[in-house]
Amino acid sequence: MKRVVYTETGDPGVLQLTEAESPEPGPGEVRVRLRRAGVNPTDWKSRTGSGPGQPVDPPQTPGQDGAGLIDAVGEGVDPALVGLPVWVWEAAFQRPWGTAAEQTLVPVHQAVSLPDPPDGSDPFDLGAALGIPFLTAHRCLTVAENGPQRLGPGTLAGRTVLVAGGAGAVGNAAIQLARWSDATVISTVSSPQKAQSAAAAGADHVINYRNQDVVAELRKIAPHGADLIIEVSPGPNAAIIAGGLAVGGTVAIYANNGGDEVTLSIRPLMTTNARLQFVLVYTAPHEAKLRAAEDVVAGVTAGAIRVGEPVGLPLLHFSLEETAQAHQAVEDGAVGKVIIDITD
Ligand SMILES: NC(=O)c1ccc[n+]([C@@H]2O[C@H](COP(=O)([O-])OP(=O)(O)OC[C@H]3O[C@@H](n4cnc5c(N)ncnc54)[C@H](OP(=O)(O)O)[C@@H]3O)[C@@H](O)[C@H]2O)c1
Repeated sequence: MKRVVYTETGDPGVLQLTEAESPEPGPGEVRVRLRRAGVNPTDWKSRTGSGPGQPVDPPQTPGQDGAGLIDAVGEGVDPALVGLPVWVWEAAFQRPWGTAAEQTLVPVHQAVSLPDPPDGSDPFDLGAALGIPFLTAHRCLTVAENGPQRLGPGTLAGRTVLVAGGAGAVGNAAIQLARWSDATVISTVSSPQKAQSAAAAGADHVINYRNQDVVAELRKIAPHGADLIIEVSPGPNAAIIAGGLAVGGTVAIYANNGGDEVTLSIRPLMTTNARLQFVLVYTAPHEAKLRAAEDVVAGVTAGAIRVGEPVGLPLLHFSLEETAQAHQAVEDGAVGKVIIDITD
């Protein structure tokens, strides 16, 4: 089978397309014949590592996310699963079998049944876009002290959610999940084009953080402030966090875009009994990710979770041979979802 690998850290040039034996699933694992892989920033960041030229042994196939059909099962796994369409998550986390390949191996619980989207769109495009963005967004939306732990209609009713960077992949997922869950959704963006993307995803209100006063605009919409802030860029947005949070509110911080340091004003955050919750999908509680995967499937089945231009997430397709270009597109901040087409 064809498999992209890297054997040392570095720029996209370290990625090589190779031929490999099909891996055999071990106990509790399934093998998935992939149709699509989804590319996320974590893929190029892992490939880059802490600097170029560090050996990677065994060879690593990049790619956490993908979708395809189960084609073999290991000991202890129901053979009836063979042929099931699935989306996979965390395929390359502490495992060599990422999704930039014709086949991957994952523990059976990381291969989740993939329903047909009700709008008739390609299920494998959607499946490849679910893992990292939607599990991260789900975690961010369910870490508040006063819940909920599950998402779906009504679960966030009465709450105001501020999604920073709503045109990003995680931002888009957070907007779709929060909208489905009946929150009032406000999103910040940096341009009119990105405002359209966030609105298409389902944001009720969009604020351009480059030329509008985010806290003032937010307070016009939600005088009490945001109950939940989903934050991609806490350093530059520290004043929005301090000025925009409601009493008892939570800030879910999932990235350090714009800088790894943050200076926070204690008094306004103390006054609101603010909760700052950091989120990394890999080390998030396992049970939370299983709940998230179930909710995501329910959202797909309901037609509430989609990808593509109509929901502000255009699909940017690359071939397996173009995996390096796909990584570069994500690193360059492509607007949309970068997908690697593996087979039809
Ligand atoms: N913790 C986790 O588990 C986890 C999971 C997934 C992703 N991540 C990380 O999260 C980040 C985003 O991932 P992604 O896949 O969503 O990337 P993406 O699609 O490139 O989106 C990044 C978004 O951040 C926005 N942004 C940057 N600075 C901003 C600011 N000051 N205010 C508001 N928005 C701002 C960008 O919009 P503008 O350029 O217009 O500002 C862009 O829309 C990456 O650093 C990624 O590594 C972390």
